[in-house]
Amino acid sequence: MRIFSGIQPSGIPTLGNYLGAIRNWVALQEGNECLWCIVDLHAITVWQDPKLLPQQIREMAATLLACGIDPGRHILFVQSAVRGHAQLAWIFNCIARLGWLNRMTQFKDKAGKDREAASTGLYVYPNLMAADIHAYHAMGVPVGDDQRQHLELANDIGEKFNHDYGVEFFPRIEPLILGPAARVMSLRDGAKKMSKSDPSDQSRINLNDDPDTIALKIRRARTDPEPLPSEPEGLEGRPEARNLVGIYAALAGSDVPGVLREHGGKGFSAFKEVLATLMIEILSPIAAETRRTLADPASLDVLLRDGAARARAIADPIVREVERLVGLFPA
Ligand code: TYM
Repeated sequence: MRIFSGIQPSGIPTLGNYLGAIRNWVALQEGNECLWCIVDLHAITVWQDPKLLPQQIREMAATLLACGIDPGRHILFVQSAVRGHAQLAWIFNCIARLGWLNRMTQFKDKAGKDREAASTGLYVYPNLMAADIHAYHAMGVPVGDDQRQHLELANDIGEKFNHDYGVEFFPRIEPLILGPAARVMSLRDGAKKMSKSDPSDQSRINLNDDPDTIALKIRRARTDPEPLPSEPEGLEGRPEARNLVGIYAALAGSDVPGVLREHGGKGFSAFKEVLATLMIEILSPIAAETRRTLADPASLDVLLRDGAARARAIADPIVREVERLVGLFPA
């Protein structure tokens, strides 16, 4: 199966990105043809400092490589280097309906109270996502739970395009939302998603946090006074507890019932200690490898340019065919 997914270079990736997406990407590299995209065009839907953005892109690439993304057998590239994404997104702006975009919960969350002041790019963000995927005829899209609605929209766009132009051109996309940590929550508030753009650094684990910082953030993570239950039903109404158990399960390659069988009855201070130890064991080598890769930015740039050339070879003919189907004047 051809697989596509993307990540915004809008900050240091978090444990949420790692457990909800990147780790699953690495596993899916076995037996599939994968495209992994650093989506800078999506990142600029909110303000990004132009002096910092190129370095943020390199840091994201280095982190993905350190996590196990394989740029030899698969394709790692930067979105803006393949012009077809923006070209197809424009056509999709003309396919998607205002009513569809008005239902997008992520826009409402990100735009906040002052919706009038949000960029129009933020509003059509999901159309560009649909273009990312459909430009490759990708069929599997591994993402965290927060992207489910955007992928439904991408299917609606593909279907409406096929219907309007009387073709069977875009295939249906299958969202791959995998594992016990598809929605990692903030360490400070079990009702909020862990996010690289949260103003509070204490709310998240960054993939470049050092061991002491990780241990401290986990120790300070919000929990309730009850011990861990032995059954998943005991996590009902305890979002912070559920979050830490889900994180542990994902890191240990286990599931929630398995973790509770092993650790049920423990108090949180003891559980947090085993959680921090496991997290440090897994994340420290990633941070070290990221630093090593970043020391040679020229090689990183070559690798990303090579990825973009290989991505263009797939996307360009597909986007040209869309333009022909739409009746745009041949270039
Ligand atoms: P981004 O950069 O916000 O997130 C990248 C991936 O990480 C997942 N994720 C999480 N998973 C679990 N818990 C969390 N707290 C958490 N935070 C983030 C996201 O679900 C995502 O899979 N819009 C996309 C980027 C994108 C894309 C695409 C994805 C652009 N084009 C095409 C798939 C296909 C995004 O959310 O990026």
